[in-house]
This record gives sequence, C-alpha cells and structure tokens, in this order.
Amino acid sequence: MGNSNNKTILFAASEAFPFAKSGGLADVMHSLPKALSKEYRTSVIIPLYQFIDKKKYGISSLGENTHVIMGKNDYFIELYGCQYEGVDYYFVYSPSLSDRPFMYGPPEEGYEDNAHRFALFCQAIIQLLKQKHFDLLHLNDWQSAMSALFVKEESSIDTKVVYTIHNMAYQGIFNKDTLDQLGLHHDYFTPERLEFYGDINFMKSGIAYADGITTVSPSYCGEILSPEFGNGLDGFLQFHSSKLKGILNGLDDDHFSPQKDMLLEKRYGPKKLKDKYINKKLYFRSIGFNDPEKPLFIFIGRFTWQKGIDILVDALNEMAQMPISISILGEGDLKYRQKLAKVALKHKNISLFFGYDESVSHKMYAAADFLLMPSLFEPCGLNQMIAMKYGAIPIVHGVGGLKDTVSPLEKFDAKADIGYGIVSKKKSAEALATSVQKAVSLFDDKKKLNRIILHNMNVDFSSRKSAERYSELYTELLQNSP
Ligand code: GLC
Repeated sequence: MGNSNNKTILFAASEAFPFAKSGGLADVMHSLPKALSKEYRTSVIIPLYQFIDKKKYGISSLGENTHVIMGKNDYFIELYGCQYEGVDYYFVYSPSLSDRPFMYGPPEEGYEDNAHRFALFCQAIIQLLKQKHFDLLHLNDWQSAMSALFVKEESSIDTKVVYTIHNMAYQGIFNKDTLDQLGLHHDYFTPERLEFYGDINFMKSGIAYADGITTVSPSYCGEILSPEFGNGLDGFLQFHSSKLKGILNGLDDDHFSPQKDMLLEKRYGPKKLKDKYINKKLYFRSIGFNDPEKPLFIFIGRFTWQKGIDILVDALNEMAQMPISISILGEGDLKYRQKLAKVALKHKNISLFFGYDESVSHKMYAAADFLLMPSLFEPCGLNQMIAMKYGAIPIVHGVGGLKDTVSPLEKFDAKADIGYGIVSKKKSAEALATSVQKAVSLFDDKKKLNRIILHNMNVDFSSRKSAERYSELYTELLQNSP
C-alpha cells in the first residue's frame, strides 16, 4: 500500500482487533490505522497478552530485548511484531503485563497491579520511541495515557501526542503510593497534573500533556464537559477544551459488510435483501428457535450498567410476552448473568449466549430485525452502525454517539446521510418496552420497514470519514512542529 506522505504515526492502546478484543476500542484500533495507512505509515502497539495467537498472525520477536526502569526496579521487556492488513503491529512482552489469562482481570474486576502493568506498557512505548522515530504518537484510553507525560519528560524524543478518550467511565484511578512505584516525582501530585481526590489518575496525564485531545463523537464531546457525563473530570476538560475535538468513529468496510462477510453462510446486500432472511432461518435453526416470521431483537455487549443492562433485564418479561424473539450475547457481572438466566428460563423466545464470539455476533446482526441498545451513555458505540449496515434497525436512547448516528424514524429523510431508528429520550424499562412495541408495529408495515432498512444499509459509516478528520488534526499539529 503506498503512503502519500512519509509521516509516521504510532497508535498505542490496550487492545486491537483481531489480536485482543473486549470492546469497540479494539475495532477502532483496527479500522482507523488501516484507513490512515493510505496516507501515512501507521503502526500500532499493544501488550502481548498470553492468549494472543502468535502463530496464526506470524508474530515474532524483533530480537530487541530490553529493560525499563521504574521506581527502584528494573523490568525485562521484549518487543514482538507482525504486519496485518498494511499496518505494522508491535507487541510488548513483559512477564507481569503478559502472563495472565485476562487483559484487565476476571470479568468486572481489575488486577490489583494494573497501575504497574500499564505504566510498564507506557514505558515500553517510550523505549520504542527512543529506538525508532515516529512523527506522532496517538494514545487511547487510560492504559496508554501515562506515555503522554513520559514523552514530555524525555528530551530525546521529538513526537507530537494525540490522546483519544473512548470512555470517561474508565480513568485509571489508583492510590497515591503508585507515584513511587512509577518513579514519578511528587511534584506531579497536584490537581493541575495527576492528582484526583487524593489518588492519582492516569487519564489526567493524557489530557494535561497531549498536544491534541479527541473523543469519539461530537455529542459526547459536548456531554463530557458537564458533571453528568464528565465523571469528575468535566472541570479539568473544560480547562483543556481548546485542545479537545469530537471525531466520530467509523467501521472497517471489509470486516463489517454483509456483502463481504466471510463469517456468514449467505452474504447479502441492499440489492439482495431477501438473502438476509436465509441468515435468519439458519441462525434460528442453530439456536433451536421457530417462527422466523416474527421479528428478532438482539442485544450484543458487555453486561454493565453503561449499556443499560438493568433497563433491559427489567423490560425483558414484558417484551417476551410480545410476538417476538430475543437473542442476547455478552459477558459481564455474575449478578446480571443470573438475572438474565432467570428471565430466560421462563420464556421460550429468549436465547442467551454468555461469552464473546465474533463469529456468533456477525451471524446475529445478519439475522436480526432490530438491535436493542439502551445505553445510559455512549461515547460513540459501534453496534448501532453495524446493525444498520446489516439491515437491523437500532432501538436507542438519544445520547452521545447514538444521537450522532441514529435519527428518530419520525424525521425520516431519504436524502440525509444519517441512519434512522427508534430513539427514546426516556431511559426506563417502560420506555424500552414502548419502543419495542413501536418496532413490532413497524415490522408489520413492510413497505415502510424496507424503505428504512435499505436507507440505513446505504449510509456511509466507514472509517474513511474519521480518518479524514484525524488526518486534518495530525496535519495541524505537525505543521506547528519545528
Ligand atoms: C468504548 C465506548 C464506545 C466506543 C468505543 C470505541 O467502548 O464505550 O462507545 O464506541 O469505546 O471508541
């Protein structure tokens, strides 16, 4: 792939598809560097978790064993690498970072030494920057945020830094002693720097020290400046708001397209919409459901309060009494798994799948008529865009990225380049059940239904659009460099 300029960008994050994925961050770390690789030489660095399949992806040691010093200790690190779809991937191996069954900890729990693990990851990024020049370092979420400060401390490194916030609810907050473990001077323990209500906050490093800050949708960008969505950092963000921009995420067109999707037994597109029904029948057979004529509602996501799982659990009983089928895929808190299992036991039209499986999720989008996504807040959200591409209508709350990608059906305009779905302002189980009722009526009006589905399938949700916006930001920042 030819790059039209010779600038180099290094993305850093705690996960990237297809190597390690727990959520949308991983998808963005796949699609964005790939989309930008037409213009830049792009690389991505993530930890080398023990479950990453080195053989499958041809990941090998770069022969660069090195060590980093943090606090009083010296830590062994080894860099690995591979190429994937035109992007260079780097992987950091270090025993305490890598030799664990999970990325962050067992479901809904973090490992106790995560501050140390991810600070080590951030130091490994600095080691790479010392060996190899990158024009710009693009950090994502709290796990890589500390690199922003480390870069500014290293006078030998000349790189611009962009920091992207994918979710304000996860900031990387640890107790004050972490400062010594990380070998950071106590001068950093001030409210303008890393201090946060007596603790230290990794995200603050990204916000305070990056040259540019972005978040993943324009609406969320406005929301996080208010106490309701700022999770205690709204004031701090307001102070740094001249550096802040909202850039909507996009999807990788090759991976999320019903025409090209190799995970589907029957591919289809807007011109062959009938074939979507074949996918529905196949999916129904695989989970032992009858009645593919009835609308299928799916939920895919982590079982956390952010995703509106409480609302879903409370609405399920009423929903299950409607003439519909419901299929749920996800993982998370035992509390939620138990609640879901209890309702599902009572109703034959609810199927549950605990765990995460990329292939099952694609088959579900292809089979679905509606996507349930009652998130209480949503920085961007990719599921609603995937659903629309696959011809399933999203049912959402008008917040964050959902607001920017899904317009209410009542405002349908065939010419607008935005998707349409069932949007509710109220966030409650009753409101969700009402939305589902609306969906059932829409399902009976086949002419209207098809018009909306076809419109949504043709909307451009590709990461090319976000790549253009990031490219503008990089150009602006790189122009100001000496
Ligand atoms: C986080 C957010 C989600 C966003 C994703 C990728 O998972 O919760 O809204 O789409 O990051 O940016």
